[in-house]
Amino acid sequence: MSVITLTINDELVSARQDQSLLEVIKEHGNHVPTLCHLEGLSERGSCRLCMVEWPDGRGNARLVAACVTPAQEGMVIYTHTERLVKYRQMIMELFLAERNHVCAVCVMNGHCELQWQAASLGVDHVRYDYLHPDLPMDASHERFVLDHNRCILCTRCVRVCDEVEGAHTWDVMGRGVESRIIADLNQTWGTSQSCTSCGKCVQVCPTGALSKKGITVAEMEKKPGFLGWILNGREKKQWEW
Ligand code: FES
Repeated sequence: MSVITLTINDELVSARQDQSLLEVIKEHGNHVPTLCHLEGLSERGSCRLCMVEWPDGRGNARLVAACVTPAQEGMVIYTHTERLVKYRQMIMELFLAERNHVCAVCVMNGHCELQWQAASLGVDHVRYDYLHPDLPMDASHERFVLDHNRCILCTRCVRVCDEVEGAHTWDVMGRGVESRIIADLNQTWGTSQSCTSCGKCVQVCPTGALSKKGITVAEMEKKPGFLGWILNGREKKQWEW
């Protein structure tokens, strides 16, 4: 694999040609916020929090999502300009305005990635009108609950179910603010015949949208790190007879 050279925050760095900008940025000690990205899953580029500035040399700068943009020879990238900080705050506010993210009554309060990212971006109020649609909860599964009100449509659950568990129970139905995560052919989770009840979707969900039954406010903690352990074991053929 050939080596390329690019500039990140005025520092010349080298990378492999098959790497994404996000990988290169992280590898060289820079941090950009992410939500839909999770190590071990394919990229979707849906949350846009990881956007970076890519000046074209003629006074314009494109905003690109680092997780889905391949690193290219000669690129000049900035990860923390004033413009980026403002856009990331705006994106976070739109997330918070779209559904119901009242942390005080959420099972993930204190352990939620959305909450952490909002705090780290300095978002302490929302400038937009709250949509707060009254969405249903699906508690039909014997062990887990789906609360659409907390969902940010990052699709980590869809990807882990398809790419790691191989069940493809979850999918996305609808467009824009009408988009919903659905089980099988839009049926209740408890009646899904493809769901193996493995709980991987629950563990990778960054918010309180997917949780275990029987827990209350602030009790739900997730361990998405299991993914690395599984993928590593599979790569080493650890569980093959
Ligand atoms: Fe890149 Fe969400 S992490 S768009």
